[in-house]
Amino acid sequence: MNTATALASPNIALIKYWGNTDNLLRLPASPSISFNLAELHTRTTVTWESDLAADYILINGQEATGDSRDRVAHHLDHVRKIARHAGFARVESSNNFPAGTGIASSASAFAALSLAATAALKLQLTERELSILARLGSGSASRSIPGGFVAWYTGAHHQDSYAETFAPPEHWALVDLVAVVSREHKKTGSTPGHAIAVTSPLQAARVATAQERFDRCKQAILNRDFRALASVVEQDNHVMHSVMMTGTPALLYWEPETLHIMSLIRELRQDNGIDVCYTIDAGPNVHCICTAEAAGTVEAALDTLPGVLEIFRATPGGPAQLVAS
Ligand code: DP6
Repeated sequence: MNTATALASPNIALIKYWGNTDNLLRLPASPSISFNLAELHTRTTVTWESDLAADYILINGQEATGDSRDRVAHHLDHVRKIARHAGFARVESSNNFPAGTGIASSASAFAALSLAATAALKLQLTERELSILARLGSGSASRSIPGGFVAWYTGAHHQDSYAETFAPPEHWALVDLVAVVSREHKKTGSTPGHAIAVTSPLQAARVATAQERFDRCKQAILNRDFRALASVVEQDNHVMHSVMMTGTPALLYWEPETLHIMSLIRELRQDNGIDVCYTIDAGPNVHCICTAEAAGTVEAALDTLPGVLEIFRATPGGPAQLVAS
């Protein structure tokens, strides 16, 4: 049977990806760092069937249509090209976390799809080749292929922009407490957002200084130095949101509750010595990154804020992997 099932986790970026040098190839303007969220995953089964007239895609039990269908089918075109295969596939994908929670499902979705679709055709891609392939579907998906603490390099060409592990998941027991303040679908998704980045007068400065923040973050992780990590993670996040806010059109992702959480986290760290910092993706929900020892205190503090609807807890996870169908 030409079938395979893969599991992949979403990831949280500590140094952000925002803007491409090539939007079609998703070659990022700057390098980024992340870790996979172990407790969350997308599970995808791909079956290449000879009697299909088109790709058939089920996401969370519903047939995909429109843009989301086209994005998956387009990704399968890349796989067909690599494999020199002409057939169509049946794709069944589901997440164990709800959509619209500020946890990007495109990363885990395109990582799991890349692995399952190639394995189902008996292609044996290296981790680097899989990361490159996943990148074409969603930039951050390149980081969901390897496990642990991951670096994604900008690369000058398609073949040298990939992500790889620089420390295993057990290197540092960090926790991501995702504070959900809104379940609404974001107004401007990441893909159009990346294209807008270049219109901000601040993007050139962001890109010019990104390598320094990347190096500082990687070193802080290798040294397990939380204070150094907190300072660079929040700075990088503020730089990215400054770009978002100053492009044309301006992208303002924060809600009042987002700012409440940001102040609470800074207060916990600066006034109470708690090892916690925040980072925010293209939406209003806040990822509170803390040490395992601090997680209970941080969660209790977040619980006191009326605007926090839900809190997800996730820890550094392993690579995308094949599982029994
Ligand atoms: C703000 O990888 O979701 O979360 O390549 O268009 O799918 P596409 O974009 P995506 O962008 C992620 C942006 C971010 C920062 C990050 O994860 O690095």
